[in-house]
Amino acid sequence: MKTKSLKTEGSVVVITGASDGIGAELAAQLRAMGSRLVLAGRNESRLRAVGGPQDLVIPGDLTVAEDRVALIEQAVARFGRIDALINNAGRGSYYRATSAPLDDARSLFELNFFAPLHLAQLASPWLCESKGTLVNIGSIASQISLPWLPVYSASKHALASLTVTQRMDLRRHGVHVMAVYPGYVLTGFQEHAAGAMPPAEVVKGKRFAVTAEECATAIIRGMERRSELVVTPKIGWILVWLSRLFPGLTESRMERV
Ligand SMILES: NC(=O)c1ccc[n+]([C@@H]2O[C@H](COP(=O)([O-])OP(=O)(O)OC[C@H]3O[C@@H](n4cnc5c(N)ncnc54)[C@H](OP(=O)(O)O)[C@@H]3O)[C@@H](O)[C@H]2O)c1
Repeated sequence: MKTKSLKTEGSVVVITGASDGIGAELAAQLRAMGSRLVLAGRNESRLRAVGGPQDLVIPGDLTVAEDRVALIEQAVARFGRIDALINNAGRGSYYRATSAPLDDARSLFELNFFAPLHLAQLASPWLCESKGTLVNIGSIASQISLPWLPVYSASKHALASLTVTQRMDLRRHGVHVMAVYPGYVLTGFQEHAAGAMPPAEVVKGKRFAVTAEECATAIIRGMERRSELVVTPKIGWILVWLSRLFPGLTESRMERV
């Protein structure tokens, strides 16, 4: 079945990780386009500062299953429908693969993989009813394994694989499923990550960075166009294709960073 594009005006959009960075920008742009928003994150005061008077703010920790259930239940109780779920909340972890603390690895997977999986399961009956949109915010690390972000890369690879299978399940119900692979986006992501700071050469990658505003615009354009994959900035496509065509070369290049 052909999926329909998101009509932003009047649509009910659930955004996780809306208190900061890309999620806060998505909220600002979608609100300006007339969407009705449900905003999730742990920091209630920041969510309220980001939110508009009509937005539904639902503070909670998305590593906790009960908080995910409450998010979807409260969204439906208020609006009676869900047109889009944007699984955006996530964090990094700058530990090497050989020394990453297991507790941190597990909690990172809970946020970056299990929360989007569970939320999509909870929201999919509503997305099927609205023939809506499911967006999973991955990373360029969904495609390329970054040795300075090993557990993060693994979680985003897992999320990318999940996104493909969700599309296989949901397309027949008219639901549009989209992955997003941002490269460097100018947000608080690095400061909010666990572990040491990234290597200096990675920080130099900032010269290719996009702002959260540019990233959010690309995501919304992808939702409107029913894209399967959005890579932003566009230069990231070079890395995506290099790694698909020359995996050995990409691995040895990453090893030298
Ligand atoms: N910035 C980049 O360079 C970049 C690149 C590629 C992909 N990404 C991806 O883009 C997404 C957004 O990242 P960002 O750059 O906007 O980072 P950010 O500024 O650090 O924002 C992260 C958001 O996730 C929320 N969050 C963190 N832990 C949470 C938890 N346990 N429960 C609920 N919400 C939680 C935070 O809100 P609270 O603190 O209020 O909970 C915040 O709103 C992430 O999935 C990230 O992996 C970012």
